[in-house]
Amino acid sequence: MSGLPDHVLKNRAKWDAWADEYVASGERGWTQDAPAWGIWQVPESEVRMLPGDLAGKDAIELGCGTAYVSAWLHRRGAHVVGIDNSQAQLATARRLQREHALDFPLIHGNAESVPYTDASFDFAISEYGACLWADPERWVPEAARLLRAGGQLAFLTRSFLLTLCVPAEGDLAATDRLLRPAFGMNRIEWPGDQGVEFHLSHGDWIRLLRRSGFEIEDLIELRPAAGATTRYPFVTFEWAHQWPSEEVWKARKRP
Ligand SMILES: C[S@@+](CC[C@H](N)C(=O)[O-])C[C@H]1O[C@@H](n2cnc3c(N)ncnc32)[C@H](O)[C@@H]1O
Repeated sequence: MSGLPDHVLKNRAKWDAWADEYVASGERGWTQDAPAWGIWQVPESEVRMLPGDLAGKDAIELGCGTAYVSAWLHRRGAHVVGIDNSQAQLATARRLQREHALDFPLIHGNAESVPYTDASFDFAISEYGACLWADPERWVPEAARLLRAGGQLAFLTRSFLLTLCVPAEGDLAATDRLLRPAFGMNRIEWPGDQGVEFHLSHGDWIRLLRRSGFEIEDLIELRPAAGATTRYPFVTFEWAHQWPSEEVWKARKRP
């Protein structure tokens, strides 16, 4: 018995199987100088996911995958740690560390229970990592525990609106209809054994963040630039240019 929740075990198996499909995007991320975010690669100058001054700061990436975000933090002078649930994803991350001659700790584990003491970090980040695949009721309080007073949390995940517009079966791409109930949305398992995702309404995110000890600083709905493309089939440019397909939450741990 591993003692891990069933969604963590399921997602571990899925991400170990999907890891090969994320090698190319990982390699691209590691060679990129200027961060760009999400499936539309919205530039950092627009999103400002990262705090202005990371030099000497302690940072953690929750669900780091191939760890290109951690590499961006490291290059900005942060003492960064990446944690991920998939050994196969971390194998790519470790190879890229060697190829780019960058070294920082990479931990195989569950972002809902991180082996660091309270108040170890100044900044926590997740781009489609724990914020999509881990239970918010577990990982958000855990992020609050890990952060120092005044520390920042930034995460990017699929928008609630997009999830409402995806049919429960068939072609799992966003439509222009509301196809699932908004109330009570939390854990979602798409057909075809796609792993376990978590999606909250904006009200639920706000209440969870606040009761975990955060003040919310921003909610940014991302819009792709004209001509942007994505390899992901769950949303088209036409959809994402009209409605937000991705959202960024920024919060700060209360003193
Ligand atoms: C899409 S990748 C995120 C990395 C990168 N930003 C990207 O977009 O490719 C999702 C990652 O979240 C990790 N993950 C899923 N559940 C997790 C959990 N409970 N704890 C830590 N990592 C988790 C997966 O193993 C996977 O590597």
